[in-house]
Amino acid sequence: MPTRPLIIDTDTGSDDAVALLLATAGGLSDVRAVTTVAGNVPVATSTRNALISLETTGHTGVPVHPGCERPMMRSLTSAQHVHGEDGMGDTGLPDPTQSPEPTHAIDALLTYPREHPGELTLVTLAPLTNIAAALLRDPQLFTRYRHVYCMAGAADTCGNISPTAEFNAWADPEAARIVARAATPEKVTWVGWDVSRKDAVMTPADQQHLQQLGTPLATFVHRINRTVGDWARDVTGLAGYDLPDPVTMAVALDPGLITEYEEAHVDVAVGEEARGQMIIDRRVSAPTPNMTLVRRVDEAGFKRLLFDTVTSPAPATDAR
Ligand code: RIB
Ligand code: CA
Repeated sequence: MPTRPLIIDTDTGSDDAVALLLATAGGLSDVRAVTTVAGNVPVATSTRNALISLETTGHTGVPVHPGCERPMMRSLTSAQHVHGEDGMGDTGLPDPTQSPEPTHAIDALLTYPREHPGELTLVTLAPLTNIAAALLRDPQLFTRYRHVYCMAGAADTCGNISPTAEFNAWADPEAARIVARAATPEKVTWVGWDVSRKDAVMTPADQQHLQQLGTPLATFVHRINRTVGDWARDVTGLAGYDLPDPVTMAVALDPGLITEYEEAHVDVAVGEEARGQMIIDRRVSAPTPNMTLVRRVDEAGFKRLLFDTVTSPAPATDAR
């Protein structure tokens, strides 16, 4: 399978870190750059965690560009109660050896696709603040990427951070609205939390399998998701912790994993009561669809990719 050149935008919490492992150690992509943003944790912490995750798979040469410190119109509400104070399960991970780039994430998101028009796939795993800010400077931004996959929203289901909204859309709903209104189905695909809770839940058997594998990457994944596992047990009622960012990354790496999708017109609520809720208009009179929504993924195929990746040998030395 061809390796896809990627740009990844992340608020590196524990599930983002697993997505970064899939992207760098799965052999299916060539990560050109990572941009970080405030979300799960403050941006300095998401930047630290991105550097740690890249070093864990030996990819110390991937540039990491720090981005926005808070949502466009609101103060930051983090998800440290879910991912831990450090965003990585509070397991005391050592500081990274590499430093972030001086170029801001917004400038990076604008520059890379201009240098490689139509070549790069953008995968967003966080509140869409960096992306929306880049769109305000370049409304044609999405036409310059090969495709844009966003972990965002929750279609036709409850939320995870509120009764109606998924965290990435809720944390910065104005940014999510800007992205939705700039999207086209040909260029933009959203993978919502509805997919993650159906097809990407790490059951107790999956978690035991990770522990039994005992490889460095399997152990890393198991340890950093400890806090999320507690939250899943006490809040979401799922059979285990789900992996929204990794399943979105898996779809970007192998769109053949998509088993159900639809084209729909999506907006995002910005009022306080329904903040971040996906507004999907399926009426006959609905406007033309503005994005592709993944609805189901091949769970076995996703988990096979995940377990194959964490079973891979010691980290490759980054060629950069
Ligand atoms: O709602 C899930 C999303 O919010 C994931 O990206 C997770 O990392 C958090 O950022
Ligand atoms: Ca995330």
